[in-house]
Amino acid sequence: MRKLAAAVSIITADSGGRRNGLTATAVMSLTAKPPRLVIAINKDASAYAVIVGSGSFCVNVLAAEQVDIARRFAGDVKGEERFALGHWGILETGSPVLEGAVTNFDCDLSETVDCGTHALLIGLVKRVLVNAQASPLLYADSQWRRLAEPAADNPTLQTAPTRKTG
Ligand SMILES: Cc1cc2nc3c(=O)[nH]c(=O)nc-3n(C[C@H](O)[C@H](O)[C@H](O)COP(=O)(O)O)c2cc1C
Repeated sequence: MRKLAAAVSIITADSGGRRNGLTATAVMSLTAKPPRLVIAINKDASAYAVIVGSGSFCVNVLAAEQVDIARRFAGDVKGEERFALGHWGILETGSPVLEGAVTNFDCDLSETVDCGTHALLIGLVKRVLVNAQASPLLYADSQWRRLAEPAADNPTLQTAPTRKTG
């Protein structure tokens, strides 16, 4: 799994004034219409019950400079204390929204799929904030990383050639 390089997000929620969150890389876009994404959360994580209880969550995609926040939300500091680092606001759903993140997806929890130790939580995106200047924090090979060079000279998306059968 350590070879599965990924962007790093803080998933946050607020259930009746009880804020919690966790660092997560298991975040995937699901559909554009309607705009939905999926997160995979360990049911033992203290934020899990808060997300399910609130019926909403925010996916805060971290900027490379926010590595301390990534560590804090995956470490020994728990619950409300995790929010001592960074500036936090709220949008439609009331979930904590981190300033300076690359993107914030403020979501209603629309569906939960049980997967044993984890659950897939599907979020219907109610509001998106984009910070065009920010560059994402990445996690690969068990290390925090940042984007370096474009992988190809041509920045336009290349369409794969149609496969012929027979
Ligand atoms: C880089 C990184 C990615 C992680 N991704 C996930 C994830 O996608 N889902 C998850 O449930 N936990 C993930 N974790 C672990 C949680 O951040 C951690 O277990 C959580 O903070 C535990 O919260 P608790 O101590 O409040 O229960 C990740 C940790 C790190 C360091």
